[in-house]
Amino acid sequence: MDYKIIEFNPKEASDDFWEIYFEFMETNFKHHNPDDPLPNREGVIQRQKTKAPYYHIKRWLAITPENKVIAWGGFGTVVEGSSDYEENKNLCSMNIAVLADYVRKGIGTDVLKRAVQEAQILGRTTIEVSTDNNPGRAFLDHFGAQLTIEGAENRLDLEDVDWVLMQSWVDEGPKRAEEVTIESFYECPEEILEEYSELYTEALNMQPLGDTEHRANIDGKLRREMEQRFKDIGYTNYTLISREKDGRISGLTEILHDSREGHRILQELTGVRPEFRGRGLGKWLKGQMILHVRDNYPDVEVIITGNVEANAPMFSINDRMGFKKHKTADSYKFQTEEIARRLGI
Ligand SMILES: CC(C)(COP(=O)(O)OP(=O)(O)OC[C@H]1O[C@@H](n2cnc3c(N)ncnc32)[C@H](O)[C@@H]1OP(=O)(O)O)[C@@H](O)C(=O)NCCC(=O)NCCS
Repeated sequence: MDYKIIEFNPKEASDDFWEIYFEFMETNFKHHNPDDPLPNREGVIQRQKTKAPYYHIKRWLAITPENKVIAWGGFGTVVEGSSDYEENKNLCSMNIAVLADYVRKGIGTDVLKRAVQEAQILGRTTIEVSTDNNPGRAFLDHFGAQLTIEGAENRLDLEDVDWVLMQSWVDEGPKRAEEVTIESFYECPEEILEEYSELYTEALNMQPLGDTEHRANIDGKLRREMEQRFKDIGYTNYTLISREKDGRISGLTEILHDSREGHRILQELTGVRPEFRGRGLGKWLKGQMILHVRDNYPDVEVIITGNVEANAPMFSINDRMGFKKHKTADSYKFQTEEIARRLGI
């Protein structure tokens, strides 16, 4: 099979190049997500062009002599200067996609080689990767990747929501957690920036993480960078926090929304500090958030969230909200030297 692998820099891509890119990307998307509307093209371009100052990112495309894109590879790793660099400086992540008509021809292996070489150059000793489909799992198994945690993409159709139950979680909130208040923001207020970032870090790290190695460490500076990046991409990031009567922040929940893909909302992180659990704060926050979605985003049809299978408290809440498993999404890792040896590089 005749093809070459080229590096792809979205900032320099011409309109003609985007055309062949989308032919690949949309065919691949439809293959794996036959019931979903295609991602908005402008949004896709903007996401790829947006600067991520604390990440080193590489992208490759496999392309035939007829100028057809048949595979894609992505690589990312945190760089010095980011608050989470120390925890993650041995790590990188990658993703590979090959068009269904071109699988089992060694193209995925070729793209994998590029990513592994990049990891070697940068001294990243572990490569983390996830997949949501059987060929992906078979490919990773073939190369001896270790399963680190089982996860899923879960979805909630807004028309299935029991609004009376959701309202009851909000009404019960202040009764069970007396003198707690809920506040909201799009940009974290300066006076709680450090405290909120610490809670956010804690919430990310207290989810079941299995044998994954990535750990969060988000300080105020990185938080501001994330907010800027979301803005540049065109995302609305809305957060609810619970405040105890002494002012401490005890919990959070947040969503992401792109008006160009207005039928869906991404439910991102939710967390309640361990010492404040068992008082209905998780249900209150999530209940209030879904009422906010209903009242402010009339076009939203579905809420999408990702959870690891072992996260019992989150499942208990999401289950009662009506979230259903849409597909599995498992995480794996490679040791760079081991996979390099297998690949003969
Ligand atoms: C995973 C994926 C990238 C593999 O691409 P590919 O070009 O078919 O991979 P290769 O041809 O290099 O396969 C290498 C080996 O993996 C194994 N493998 C790959 N797909 C397999 C499948 N569907 N069933 C069983 N084994 C499979 C085989 O052992 C294969 O070698 P062989 O064909 O000589 O037996 C492709 O299936 C894909 O795009 N999946 C969706 C995206 C994804 O999940 N990516 C995550 C992995 S980073």
